[in-house]
Amino acid sequence: MSADARKTAEGLSYLSGFGNEHSSEAVPGALPEGRNSPQRAPLGLYAEQLSGSAFTEPRAHNRRSWLYRIRPSAQHPAFTRTGNGAIRTAPFTETVPDPNRLRWNPLPDPAPGTDFLAGLWTLGGNGDATQRAGMAVHLYHANASMERVFSDADGELLIVPERGGLLLRTEFGLLHVEPGHIALIPRGVRFRVELLDDSARGYACENYGAPFQLPDLGPIGANGLANARDFKAPVAAYEETEGPVEVVNKFCGNLWTATYGHSPLDVVAWHGNHVPYVYDLRRFNVIGTISYDHPDPSIFTVLTSPSDTPGLAGVDFVVFAPRWLVGEDTFRPPYFHRNVMSEYMGLVEGAYDAKAEGFVPGGGSLHNMMSAHGPDRETFDRASAAELKPQKIDDGLAFMFETRWPVTLTPQAAGAEHLQRRYDDVWDGLERHFRPLR
Ligand SMILES: [Fe+2]
Repeated sequence: MSADARKTAEGLSYLSGFGNEHSSEAVPGALPEGRNSPQRAPLGLYAEQLSGSAFTEPRAHNRRSWLYRIRPSAQHPAFTRTGNGAIRTAPFTETVPDPNRLRWNPLPDPAPGTDFLAGLWTLGGNGDATQRAGMAVHLYHANASMERVFSDADGELLIVPERGGLLLRTEFGLLHVEPGHIALIPRGVRFRVELLDDSARGYACENYGAPFQLPDLGPIGANGLANARDFKAPVAAYEETEGPVEVVNKFCGNLWTATYGHSPLDVVAWHGNHVPYVYDLRRFNVIGTISYDHPDPSIFTVLTSPSDTPGLAGVDFVVFAPRWLVGEDTFRPPYFHRNVMSEYMGLVEGAYDAKAEGFVPGGGSLHNMMSAHGPDRETFDRASAAELKPQKIDDGLAFMFETRWPVTLTPQAAGAEHLQRRYDDVWDGLERHFRPLR
């Protein structure tokens, strides 16, 4: 943690918009005009394209950025294998998929000197990273800033801080993320995580599939949910570090390391749409009922990773943000349900309106495909008897990674000390109320 980093983070400016073409130059004249790869790029820079989609994907899904950098990325020594720490990758085959409702307390404190990468701990996931399908649920708990640089060839990283601010130094520039914000680091983009507080804790969804995009709005119309302009891309910023810099590359499930002779965060200018973002979840425009019934939580989708089947996401990122509840003659908390999708839920702050206790910030729950879940007894009793006045839910920020395939646990998650052993008990004692009319 450093006061300088916090000052830097708080002074950042950004480019607004999601998925559109952005451009930025840290030095005037660094960005070529009129062509992507002129015979000689301006200011003696190297031009390089970073593709996030196949060249020929439809324009709406096509992602690439042009980077103008001090040295080309190609200039590096061979990577060698290094330890994977607590990071695991799909396919997850070390345990059998578990139909039980599962819940964890927060990760234990890390050893001193644990940076973001060393502090990443994989809970589980699905799909196959080499097939670019599926996702992984990670948590992190760190107490040191990274000095090394990381990139993930296996997928994009959606980072959801729960405790402690982060300064992300990326190839594209700097991003400031605090609890209540999310950050999205595209596949292959190199970055370093600096801590703005003594420690940092949170969640990360590694999405091997199609990049997250804003959901279609259908009858909601042209506005609502997450507004594109609230996503913030960095402005170009570069490092001129000469000397050894460790670069760690996650590739098909393993970490590989190489020592570069310079910082790879040396992009002086860029343009494109394969860029990192931050987004403040409090900006989410929550849509809900103004008549009756609890809408399906898909109404709270911030970002979706589509699959080949319309409406069926590889993974959705869903937020339960502060909102008004006004439904008449309605059981207002989330209903009892069984879902073909699988749901990992986390809590950034406060409480969640379907659970009275046990679901705590930094913890999480997993309700796999078709597992029955819903409000606990205390919540059911309270909501069934509540006087239905307009009510503001403003004491919590929960989220969900909802995925089309069951989440298979890593052995470290299945056997974790912080796995709650009696989660099923929250539905114990839901009484029989059935009284047939006679
Ligand atoms: Fe659910």
